[in-house]
Amino acid sequence: MKLVPATPEEAPAMASAHAQAFDRPWDEAAFRDLLASTGVFGFLADGEDPSGVVLCRTIAGEAEILTLAVPPWARRRGIAKALMAAALGTARELGANWAYLEVDVDNAAAVALYEGLGFARAGLRRAYYDRGAAGRADALVMRLDLTSPHQ
Ligand SMILES: CC(C)(COP(=O)(O)OP(=O)(O)OC[C@H]1O[C@@H](n2cnc3c(N)ncnc32)[C@H](O)[C@@H]1OP(=O)(O)O)[C@@H](O)C(=O)NCCC(=O)NCCS
Repeated sequence: MKLVPATPEEAPAMASAHAQAFDRPWDEAAFRDLLASTGVFGFLADGEDPSGVVLCRTIAGEAEILTLAVPPWARRRGIAKALMAAALGTARELGANWAYLEVDVDNAAAVALYEGLGFARAGLRRAYYDRGAAGRADALVMRLDLTSPHQ
């Protein structure tokens, strides 16, 4: 597995990895559009099959993780951790001091991943996610100080 910077050419591979990880996937056009927007960058974990994607946006000294996805067959091998390390490193190089993200309060795997990376709980957005018939779910807002020497 190697990490490659996300470009519009990787949109099909990114959409494929995303579709295997989420019930409501983003399509190729969504990835292409995001990559064309100001401050957006990302990485693809590329192998025989695309095994993960992260997208991030930096604006005015802040970075936001837009999405992170690893297909079920590729999980627990450190791919998300590597994708996040690459994204946070680039955000830091681009001058971001803080990184933010939103995560479903019930997404124990992702919350554990983010806490392991040093993210702290910074707030709650009530009824943020639409789960269709299952109703709405709250989002945790998490943040990481990118200027901390421990990162
Ligand atoms: C969350 C997700 C990105 C993790 O990807 P991954 O490549 O399996 O994660 P990693 O292997 O890098 O795991 C790093 C650490 O995160 C934590 N973690 C990851 N999956 C976990 C799980 N199922 N249960 C508990 N902790 C978990 C562990 O601390 C793990 O370290 P360890 O394996 O040494 O114990 C992946 O499960 C996924 O794509 N889920 C669906 C989409 C999603 O939830 N995206 C994030 C939305 S905000």
